Amino acid sequence: LQAKMVLDKNYEIAKVDERIYGSFIEHLGRAVYGGIYEPGHPQADEQGFRKDVLELVRELRVPIVRYPGGNMVSAYNWEDGVGPEDERPRRLELAWRTIETNEVGTNEFADWAKKAGADVMMAVNLGTRGIDAARNLIEYTNHPGGTYWSELRKSHGYDHPHNIKTWCLGNEMDGPWQVGHKTPYEYGRIAEETGKAMKLVDPSIELVACGSSNTDMPTFPEYEATTLDLAYEQVDFISLHQYYGNRTNDPASYLAKNMDMDHFIRTVRSTCDYIKAKKRSKKTINLSFDEWNVWYHSNEADKRIEPWTVAPPQLEDVYNFEDALLVGSMLITFLQHADRVKMACMAQLVNVIAPIMTENNGKAWKQTIFYPYMHASLFGRGVSLKPVLSSPKYDSKEFTDVPYLDCAAVYSEENKEVTIFIVNKNLTDSIPLTADLRSFEGYHLAEHLVLAHDDLKAVNTAVKEEVVPHSKGQSTLEEGILKSNLEKTSWNVIRLK
Ligand code: AHR
Repeated sequence: LQAKMVLDKNYEIAKVDERIYGSFIEHLGRAVYGGIYEPGHPQADEQGFRKDVLELVRELRVPIVRYPGGNMVSAYNWEDGVGPEDERPRRLELAWRTIETNEVGTNEFADWAKKAGADVMMAVNLGTRGIDAARNLIEYTNHPGGTYWSELRKSHGYDHPHNIKTWCLGNEMDGPWQVGHKTPYEYGRIAEETGKAMKLVDPSIELVACGSSNTDMPTFPEYEATTLDLAYEQVDFISLHQYYGNRTNDPASYLAKNMDMDHFIRTVRSTCDYIKAKKRSKKTINLSFDEWNVWYHSNEADKRIEPWTVAPPQLEDVYNFEDALLVGSMLITFLQHADRVKMACMAQLVNVIAPIMTENNGKAWKQTIFYPYMHASLFGRGVSLKPVLSSPKYDSKEFTDVPYLDCAAVYSEENKEVTIFIVNKNLTDSIPLTADLRSFEGYHLAEHLVLAHDDLKAVNTAVKEEVVPHSKGQSTLEEGILKSNLEKTSWNVIRLK
């Protein structure tokens, strides 16, 4: 087994939009209460936000965070979460069947995001509500003053508008589980009309319309086509959501699942372009992959959760090493589509299917998936290049012709850096790679980071981080020729400066 590659700085795909390293905080489980916010915790700041969690979020350099849902937003009254805290109602939260205390709402979250160094991507409720609640919310968050909702914000202690630029028109409206689930026609119409009203309030915003909740949805890709046909004028992005799991314990198939993600992206992109052609439009719709991750470990435990409690431990997947490899491959897939995938949100960020976990009144710690996410976010900024890679391939139960190696490369002329991300999916063998990098004259090998472990099922815990990267990867660079030995089942980050 061996692989060959040519990487040239002129083979550009597109500039990477840093928002592909976004994430997501939903009012769900312990994401907000007991996650980012825990007033009694020794690390809590003056607003009750955990400083240790903020530090880990900043370590990931998350540029944008989607909020407040997810499924939760489809029955959410945003007005419940603003104003004097002791007057905020406790509500039945229908999506996850818990109690929402509303201690944290729009203003607090905007403050938290600022502390985290991130922008907010705000979702409006198109389940139980619609145009009116959405236009009021954007007047509240973005209008400077002198009107009912903007003055109300000021009276709540926020003199300056939050100026939220990116908005989601509802969440997973194609899903029968969604409160206020809609047919493509119903959704396309309300998306268009809500978007129109929101852009009248603030024309500088960008709008994301719902697409399909996953590739198995019976309405995929008709949902995207009808929605865009009806809402093309107002919408800037179409959203994609996808979670994977290794339910049959078949690592060879599991690690290939980003091929499904690649197919999803290609199909949605073609659907957007079909509607563009149909409308004779000059406008191009971009892709917002605003929910993606591994999600399956916690499914059984979640069935045993008592309904109508506050912040129960829902969706608390503990990720193993193979999950980190698939997460790495999914990030590589985004980089390969940098010309159309302009936003993506790892779902989610803290405690709920998350790279960061917390113990109540205790530690914050890093899951295995933290590392590929962090490496991509830190080093994957610049221009995504197209590596010409010839990799040996394999067949699994679910996929054929799976390249053992997944690869993406990002070049930052500004920082004089090149980073090559590679996943080796081979379960038993390392793969030697020879790469021609002669177009990067004067560059030298800075480091070769590796995330590897003998046990695919190894996990991190609050007590021990078993799966952590090291910088002893085997690479040499001589006269523009890179020679690397890529360990079996490994995530590799090869950096040139
Ligand atoms: O991220 C968890 C849930 O997954 C979200 O609330 C929903 O949008 C999706 O089904």
